[in-house]
Amino acid sequence: MKILLTGGTGFIGSHTAVALLERGFEVILLDNFSNSSPDAADRVREITGRDLLCIKTDLLDADGVGLAFSQNPGIDAVMHFAGFKAVGESVSEPLAYYHNNIAGTLNLIEIMNKNGVKKLIFSSSATVYRADNPVPYFEDYPLGATNPYGWSKVMIEQILRDVCAANPEWSMALLRYFNPIGAHESGMIGEAPNGIPNNLMPYITKVAAGELPVIHIFGDDYDTPDGTGVRDYIHVMDLAEGHILAMNYIRERKGAWSFNLGTGKGYSVKELIAAFEKVCGKELPKQTDARRAGDLPAAYANTALAKKELGFAARYGIEKMCEDSWRWQITGACRK
Ligand code: WQD
Repeated sequence: MKILLTGGTGFIGSHTAVALLERGFEVILLDNFSNSSPDAADRVREITGRDLLCIKTDLLDADGVGLAFSQNPGIDAVMHFAGFKAVGESVSEPLAYYHNNIAGTLNLIEIMNKNGVKKLIFSSSATVYRADNPVPYFEDYPLGATNPYGWSKVMIEQILRDVCAANPEWSMALLRYFNPIGAHESGMIGEAPNGIPNNLMPYITKVAAGELPVIHIFGDDYDTPDGTGVRDYIHVMDLAEGHILAMNYIRERKGAWSFNLGTGKGYSVKELIAAFEKVCGKELPKQTDARRAGDLPAAYANTALAKKELGFAARYGIEKMCEDSWRWQITGACRK
């Protein structure tokens, strides 16, 4: 099978490309490199010993995307990772987020339709769940967001469900990621955010590497066991595996299907830092600051549906996530 990955040189896309190539899929990466580097494609080739095509274009360039499909006939399915994803940035630049994420997706769906490609895996997020939902989150819980990034995911999910309802020949999986961390065990690919990381794990690894002075703990007065935020961290290679299983699932059925991709277990900020300190062998400088606007006390997945329908269960625990994140920081992260 030939699979096109939008945002394919990004964090989740590049790791999923490794998993696909290792299972014999043919892979095409499509990316505008706005938050990644074409070097990631070379490292995916090196890790797998397999070749792949990497096309530089932007989903907002309908002609460019159209060419990618017309010049590569026989694409069986698309995994759609491309999109802006920084929550804070989305609050200050809502139009850029809605235009990039939603218009880009509309272009993609229209071009897929024109080329008869009607299998899609969409990179959704746990951010789609309303903030007042109890944890753990079930897939049928009410959706809603507190920022334009999250709303763009809610809106795109709705668009995709409506496309499937109107066109029964489509098959889609909407995968709601919890908190992806870790890296491929080679240390050659990993999370490489531009500038100062927004997310906790890349911030921790940069403090451990001496690139940043101190870890800022955003609040220790939440109603959680140790007062700090609790999240469902999932190894990025487990997330990649979930995409393979979802691909197999939608090959067998039509319609739009939503699944949580998480471990079902929550770790607090302090627990993650402690796990990382054990792995890197040193105590890290940390300070407690005020809560970050928009943060929830706790968010973690109910994993029963993905287990029952996809046969998905996360394999890796928090220690391996920390080990692989640390190896990436000390061996690979210096290369963007
Ligand atoms: C985790 C915990 C913070 C940074 C975001 C997006 C979500 C998804 C994953 C794309 C929270 C605390 C963080 C720091 C801290 N991305 N924290 N100091 O906010 O759960 O989810 O990334 O889909 O959509 O919303 O992840 O890593 O930013 O925060 O104390 O420097 O760590 O308060 O409790 P989050 P995060």
